[in-house]
Amino acid sequence: MALRITSLREYDQQYQRSIEEPEAFWSEVASDFHWQQKWDRVFSGGFEHVDFKWFEGARLNITENCLDRHLKSHASRTALIWEPNDPKENGRTLTYRQLYEEVCRCSNLLRLLGIGKGDTVCIYLPMIPELVVSVLACARIGAVHSVVFGGFSAGSLADRIRDSQAKLLITADGYYRGSKPVNLKSMADEALRNCPSVKHVLVVNRSQFPISIVPGRDSYWDQLIAKCSPNCEPESMEAEDPLFILYTSGSTGKPKGLLHTTAGYMVYAGFTFLNVFQYRENEIFWCTADVGWITGHTYVVYGPLLNAATILIYEGVPHHPSWSRWWDIIDKYRVNIFYTAPTAIRSFEAQGDQHLAHANLSSLRLLGSVGEPINEEAWHWFFQKVGKGNCPIVDTWWQTETGGIAISTLAGITPQKPAHAGWPLPGIVPVLFDDNGRMITQAGVEGNLCLARSWPGQARTIYGDHQRFIQTYFSRFPGYYFTGDGCRRTEQGFYRITGRVDDVIKVSGHRLGTAELENAINQHPEVVESAVVNIPHAVTGEAIVAFVVTRSLEVDVQRLEQEVIDLVTRSIGPIAKPKQVIVVTGLPKTRSGKIMRRILRKLLQGETSNLGDSSTLLNPEIVTEIAEQLEQNPVRVN
Ligand code: PRX
Repeated sequence: MALRITSLREYDQQYQRSIEEPEAFWSEVASDFHWQQKWDRVFSGGFEHVDFKWFEGARLNITENCLDRHLKSHASRTALIWEPNDPKENGRTLTYRQLYEEVCRCSNLLRLLGIGKGDTVCIYLPMIPELVVSVLACARIGAVHSVVFGGFSAGSLADRIRDSQAKLLITADGYYRGSKPVNLKSMADEALRNCPSVKHVLVVNRSQFPISIVPGRDSYWDQLIAKCSPNCEPESMEAEDPLFILYTSGSTGKPKGLLHTTAGYMVYAGFTFLNVFQYRENEIFWCTADVGWITGHTYVVYGPLLNAATILIYEGVPHHPSWSRWWDIIDKYRVNIFYTAPTAIRSFEAQGDQHLAHANLSSLRLLGSVGEPINEEAWHWFFQKVGKGNCPIVDTWWQTETGGIAISTLAGITPQKPAHAGWPLPGIVPVLFDDNGRMITQAGVEGNLCLARSWPGQARTIYGDHQRFIQTYFSRFPGYYFTGDGCRRTEQGFYRITGRVDDVIKVSGHRLGTAELENAINQHPEVVESAVVNIPHAVTGEAIVAFVVTRSLEVDVQRLEQEVIDLVTRSIGPIAKPKQVIVVTGLPKTRSGKIMRRILRKLLQGETSNLGDSSTLLNPEIVTEIAEQLEQNPVRVN
């Protein structure tokens, strides 16, 4: 790879160059990839009209860069190591040659099922090699993949399939998540009742769970794939052809399908992987994220494979069969880079150090954190207990929308500071604004984090709704991309992300919108309306508390709480479960009828004065009532 930053001085130079001569900079980064045809223009458009484009005129296929390109020198290198849920079951490894052949077979299979360039394929699979293979096979034939996390419910899957108009669903008969069986196929069947766009379902055999097969619609992966050729011509893609849609939650409405395109995403994923992790040949990289999230797209699949790295994927959960499972995996495969989430780190910390006692962990060179702010205590625990004080930590800030890491220490190159993401990557220009839209230039003041310029990995639109894209990200601070995060900048230019400033909640790093949660809760026949707020939680970072107004005041709160939890689990998934449900007689609202969640959040933290500007409050008496109620029955989430 051409552009590897290897010293602090080089970081300064390259960062400067990426700002002063962005086209020359990105053109150099891009030059080391394989292009069927080079670009005419590195960049065009911008934030004013929200029409940014990268590498226009180029033709390529991202899988040629992830696979074919490496066959010459690295065909027998391990591309993928798969560790199953059950430690007694054998795992699998695939070399670059084998992965290439599996991907080609799958690509041919997709074509056989009538899938071609521009069609959307929904992938709803556990963390098994077929998940990586399916993603790459879609990319190879120019189909747009839409991966839905296997922990989402049938309802969430259906919403995503309908919005993306997927023609094919790839799923599995079922799997175990820890000791829990997950009947994936039956959830898929339930979802498909109302998804007429799906013509075929491809079922991977993973468990022996009994499933029903719909003749003419469903077929088994294993039966068909064996007959497919291990070679497949890649589709020639234009730079801005869609690569994938990935749904994520926002402040309002339903989850939105962020659309990433081919060339810019590829260049950014490859560049950031190499530089943030300072990847060295033959190292084993373990990112614990599920491929159903952006972290899994960029740093399980594309970024590492673009760099001919060896990836490890694990099907299970951290505590199965015991809390030492992850440390055993690191020792078993001699993992070098371990990239995980603060929630996982805090849960390990909470379980006590005895689970680490027998672990060697000497293979580790580098640790990474992603998905939510990491508190100092967890940072130090990670550094001392897992890294044994020898491994740098990269605290990587980014989003589904940014496509790749945007603010982070470069391992061992730029300075690290506990609980601070660090300095921006080349091409990233962070800017802070106060709530009145004034730019904050001084250090130490919290503001709304925006990015001033486009970078190649940026999402181009919300699938099917460009207006919503403009409205969500480019209207609050015109001319800037608004991240939705609060942030502080230190004298030394380190960025510290303080959390979301909008109605997005991060539970265990999972991104959830208050609107989708409330919509689910409001389906309960006894609920008139609800308001969902986040409160700090020692392990999951944030937890959800739901305030509900019921039709009758005579309500069995315990029963209702359980029913609301079940309802949310069914309509979104277990990750979205509220920790507590509080029945109230009304919700604080503005005169225009907007629920003031900010006030509820403060009340939950025990604040009764200093509730901010409540002059627009329609019903102040409700605030007093809820405050009294909370005083008598404090929340019990930690
Ligand atoms: O609030 C920030 C938080 O996660 C949000 C993005 O969520 P998602 O699109 O699901 O992507 C997560 C993985 C890239 C951000 O707006 N976030 C992500 N990384 C960090 C973080 N907050 C603090 N520090 C981080 N390192």
